[in-house]
Amino acid sequence: MSEFDRRRWDGRYADGSYRSRPHPTPFVVDWVEKLDLRPGSRALDVACGLGRNARFLATNRFEVEAQDISSVALEQARTLAAKDDLDIKFTQQDFDVDTPVESAFDLIVVARFINRTLNDHLAGMLRPAGWLIYEHHLKTDSIVNGPKDPDFRFDPNELLGVCENLRVVFYEEVIDQDPDGRTMALVRAVACNDLSS
Ligand SMILES: C[S@@+](CC[C@H](N)C(=O)[O-])C[C@H]1O[C@@H](n2cnc3c(N)ncnc32)[C@H](O)[C@@H]1O
Repeated sequence: MSEFDRRRWDGRYADGSYRSRPHPTPFVVDWVEKLDLRPGSRALDVACGLGRNARFLATNRFEVEAQDISSVALEQARTLAAKDDLDIKFTQQDFDVDTPVESAFDLIVVARFINRTLNDHLAGMLRPAGWLIYEHHLKTDSIVNGPKDPDFRFDPNELLGVCENLRVVFYEEVIDQDPDGRTMALVRAVACNDLSS
C-alpha cells in the first residue's frame, strides 16, 4: 500500500470513522457460534480496523491476533479492547507487502476488506481443519452503500476462487441491510481447510 493510502486510512480513523459501528459483523457472529471451535483456538482478524470482530472473538475465548495497516486504528482498537479487559495481540501489517505466517490459524476472519495479494495466501495461513469466514462488498448495478470504486469490490464468483483449495460450506451473494440500516451488496463465504470430508 502506498504511503498516501496508509495516511488516508489514518486520517479516517483520526476523524472518528467507524466508531458508530461497534457491533461485530452479524455473519461472523452466526458462524462462530455454529462452528463452536474449542476455547483457545487461534484466530486472526484481518484488517481489523477498530477491532470489533477481534473483541467478539476474544470474548468468545479465542486467542486473537488482529492486524491492520493503520496505526491510528490500532491505537483506538487497543484502547477499546483494554476497556473490556480483553487480551488481543494487535500488530501493524501491510498485506500488500507481507502476509502472516503459513498454517498458523484455526480461524481467519475477513470483514469488509479485499486484498488480492493476501487472498492468494489465505488458504495456506489456515491450520489443517481451520476455517475461513469472509464477508465483503460485491459488484452490483443496484444502488447500495460501500466502496464507490468497483476495484474494491468482488466480482460475482470471485470469492469462490479464493476458496478453491478449501471445502466451501456456505456461499451467498446478496443485497442485505447492515445493523445500522444501510443497504449493502455483499458476498459471504465460510470454508474449511479440509478437502477430505
Ligand atoms: C472497511 S475497513 C474494515 C475494518 C474491519 N475489518 C471491520 O470490519 O470493522 C478496512 C480496513 O482495512 C485496512 N487496510 C487497508 N489496506 C490495508 C493493507 N494494505 N494492509 C492492512 N490493512 C489494510 C484499513 O486500515 C481499514 O481498517
